[in-house]
Amino acid sequence: MIPTGPDRPAIPLLVSTPAELRAATATLLDAARSRADAADAGDARLSLGLVPTMGGLHAGHAALARAARTADDVVVASIFVNPLQFGDQADLDRYPRTLDEDLRLLGAQGVDLVFAPAVEDMYPGGEPLVRVSAGPAGGVFEGASRPGHFDGMLTVVAKLLNLAQPATRASYRAYFGEKDAQQLSLIRRMVLDLDLRVRIEGVPIVRDHDGLALSSRNRFLSDDERSAALVLSRTLAALRDRAARGEPLDLAAARARITAAEGVDLDYLDVVDPASFAPTAASGPAPHAALAVVAARVGAVRLIDNTTLPAPH
Ligand code: PAF
Repeated sequence: MIPTGPDRPAIPLLVSTPAELRAATATLLDAARSRADAADAGDARLSLGLVPTMGGLHAGHAALARAARTADDVVVASIFVNPLQFGDQADLDRYPRTLDEDLRLLGAQGVDLVFAPAVEDMYPGGEPLVRVSAGPAGGVFEGASRPGHFDGMLTVVAKLLNLAQPATRASYRAYFGEKDAQQLSLIRRMVLDLDLRVRIEGVPIVRDHDGLALSSRNRFLSDDERSAALVLSRTLAALRDRAARGEPLDLAAARARITAAEGVDLDYLDVVDPASFAPTAASGPAPHAALAVVAARVGAVRLIDNTTLPAPH
């Protein structure tokens, strides 16, 4: 019997194999059903929320877990540093692994269960031969800079969505941050194209007091690099203000502002359709429902950020 509801422990239950995950989610849903019955809400549809992560958690992940805790009866988080989505072995090796802190953060948000498999648990026969392909939209922007990244990401997300899928007729949601906007749009597209039975929830970017978007990689920035990195969020905010005023965006000037920042190596700054990631206006006013996206290397750290551009009123 796994304690749930008000008796939930401060540190969530930790499992590492797919079989343990399936058994534990079934037990948690049963317990939630008993609580609903005891409260005489027997016909209420139960829901399970999944929060996939790679660990190295921060307040942005806490916001995902909180959104799930608010909406769902049972909340499961996963922590898995997925080798398939790293092109660079050095980047994979130095990705933060902070399991104890992560469990405390997830426990504080009321997460019931954490699935933290080893690589052999997720890929028992070695790397999978069959993978999900992100298609052309996975080859632009982040995909152009990190070939294969989105195929690897979608492959593990498809597996995680399947592994945590409730066996009962509970409804099912999965939560992803809007900071990884291209990732989120590809996951939505995969769910649509492959008819996966899950609802994808995007959760707004969480920023530090000075506007820097939270990222597991920020911990690798020196103080000077962190200050330099602020040019990204500030340039996006300036674009958002111009869009709100109906002024031409002048992306060339915005790019020049970033390029001029010491130690910041701009990869891209563009305005895209949030669903297809096709570039939209280069210099005119922002079209309806556009997203400004940026990526840059600051020192050795690659950072991304984005903002929605309001339609002019
Ligand atoms: O955004 C992440 O942390 C990862 O890409 C995800 C979605 C957990 C898949 O490994």
